[in-house]
Amino acid sequence: MIAPTPSPRILLIVGGGIAAYKACELVRLIRKGGGDVTCVLTEGGAHFVTAMTLAALSENPVHTTLWDLKNEVEMGHIQLSRQADLVVVCPATADLLARMAAGIADDLATTLLLATDKPVLAVPAMNVRMWQHAATVRNVGTLRASGVTVVEPDVGAMACGEFGPGRLPEPEAIWAAIQGALSDSASPCAAPTPGPLAGRHVLVTAGPTHEPIDPVRYIANRSSGRQGFAIAAAAAQAGARVTLVAGPVTLPTPAGVDRVDVETAREMAAAVDVALPADVAVMVAAVADWRTADAPAHKLKKDGSGTPPPLALVENPDILATLCRDPRRPALVVGFAAETNDVIAHAVAKRARKGADWIVANDVSGDVMGGMANTVHIIDAEGVDSLPEMPKDAVAQAIVARIAHTLANGTPA
Ligand code: C5P
Repeated sequence: MIAPTPSPRILLIVGGGIAAYKACELVRLIRKGGGDVTCVLTEGGAHFVTAMTLAALSENPVHTTLWDLKNEVEMGHIQLSRQADLVVVCPATADLLARMAAGIADDLATTLLLATDKPVLAVPAMNVRMWQHAATVRNVGTLRASGVTVVEPDVGAMACGEFGPGRLPEPEAIWAAIQGALSDSASPCAAPTPGPLAGRHVLVTAGPTHEPIDPVRYIANRSSGRQGFAIAAAAAQAGARVTLVAGPVTLPTPAGVDRVDVETAREMAAAVDVALPADVAVMVAAVADWRTADAPAHKLKKDGSGTPPPLALVENPDILATLCRDPRRPALVVGFAAETNDVIAHAVAKRARKGADWIVANDVSGDVMGGMANTVHIIDAEGVDSLPEMPKDAVAQAIVARIAHTLANGTPA
């Protein structure tokens, strides 16, 4: 494989979708991160962003056509496809993914993708129905099986007004995925050591959820997302494919992790459902127990009477309990319990009530929520394993090591 270069060279293929505008921000981030980027703009992409914009941001010529004889003399398309360390397709439309999967080479972008001997990272963006269509699912499977890294799209409201998975991840997350792909490709291929979770899919939920009261206010909690993000990072380091369903937090996406951003408990439940099947689920999110029965479309106003508006609450779906009853239940399901008193007794009861294999209980009466350290007790069918206070990263490593050990030995205790 390729030797790591001090300044990674990215060949960025910009496909034709509304999300193409985010490719401009991605170019800026790659440059800011010390990378060199050369853009290829498809015919469709040129309907959304201009070659001029990409050239100005990348400070490199932008390639748009296979039939550019001047370039074919100075730099053939084969050379263009191979001089980069990584080829990134962003946004990767359903059509582009289909042509990549079929090995079609009918324009500059697809010809480069067929000719390249470098790793390829595709960042899809499309309407939710297109993403979930059997043809796209099949094409993504074909591409992954042939070694293309296909990033999971974000879940959320789309430009077309629908809701679900299909949104282009934020440029910061794409840049993190690029860095992950570059470090994977730079690691020596002669003797890769598969991590203890290689071949496993680990699903992690993290962070709080926000439940709208009206368009500007919401119900929230103090979860920072740090413990869940640390577990996602540790699982990816252990070789797992990791899907991280994250509530609203500002943390960077750990390397090698597919992140799906959500706001509400119901969005989190939908994203968990889409991410299945998984071998392991670690549900760290501090999901709001209740949401407002009705969130008006307009901001609530004081009416001068001094009486606040009534806030009727309804219970949110219990994502962990639902997952434990699902026929696609992962072999190992780990829940968390944030308690302020009788920590272990509450956690033992919670394990039985929700049907989880393990409950990781922590005392949040101090500054654990939002803090950097955690003291946890792991409750399983055999008893309680209490760990000393440690940084959240170390707690994550301990939990992931326990998961790997359990899977290697068959069924969870
Ligand atoms: O009931 P409680 O909120 O204490 O349960 C905590 C555990 O259940 C955590 O693992 C949390 O992620 C999960 N949970 C959930 N959906 C909810 C509430 C909690 O998945 N609505």
